Amino acid sequence: MRTPFVVGNWKLHKTIAESLALVTELKNQLAAVAAGKRVEVGVAPPFTALWPVARRLDDASVMVCGQDCFWEERGAWTGEIAPSMLVDVGCRWVIIGHSERRQHFGETDAGVGKKVKAALAAGLGAIACVGETDAERDAGSTTAVVDRHLEGALAHVTAADAARFVVAYEPVWAIGTGRTATPAQAQEVHAHIRKRLGEKLGAEAAAAIRIQYGGSVKANNAVALMGQADIDGALVGGASLEAADFIAIVRAARGNS
Ligand code: PGA
Repeated sequence: MRTPFVVGNWKLHKTIAESLALVTELKNQLAAVAAGKRVEVGVAPPFTALWPVARRLDDASVMVCGQDCFWEERGAWTGEIAPSMLVDVGCRWVIIGHSERRQHFGETDAGVGKKVKAALAAGLGAIACVGETDAERDAGSTTAVVDRHLEGALAHVTAADAARFVVAYEPVWAIGTGRTATPAQAQEVHAHIRKRLGEKLGAEAAAAIRIQYGGSVKANNAVALMGQADIDGALVGGASLEAADFIAIVRAARGNS
């Protein structure tokens, strides 16, 4: 039985003061929402807020996540952050290969694979994002694109990594658009992803790996999405910036456990 996992991806939002205000609210309210329930919760603030947020969450169950990391541990890589630096600051997980990084920052499938490998080697859990654009879906190539993204992400993953490897299915056309995939559309792709995971890593690992859905997840659609057999939580952008919205989504995921 997979424990649902909900992560808030704050993207390029929030100062340190704003970050602390939000996680303090989350910490206070989630203690009751998640108590004794099978649900894991994470937040991915901007790099500049990681340290104070991690300190504020020291005694809370909410996990701190990076929004990206590099595949090298040190060297002449101006602007990059090493996986072990995320561990150092208190992160447990890192998001890798988000579509915004693929679209705007030249992230490649091979690069995603190297980042996943480096993150796992440093002791982080890796949340690898996959998903097709509008044009790709219209062209009927959704599964081909997802397969290509998965192949890159899984290049160095083994069955032993199942507990620390998460796939986030995020159709690009649903991100920040208010246009969510229907629960049936999402489930269809999630089931396909699980099948591919099985082919690559074996049935036991495929049954254990969490597959999050992401793309305009809101309080009012989360229950239906989380009710799908292969949807094991959410990667939440816009709705993770307000405590009440995010907590409602955690509640929906928790209801699934
Ligand atoms: P959204 O973003 O919830 O604002 O659509 C999701 C994501 O990009 O992870």
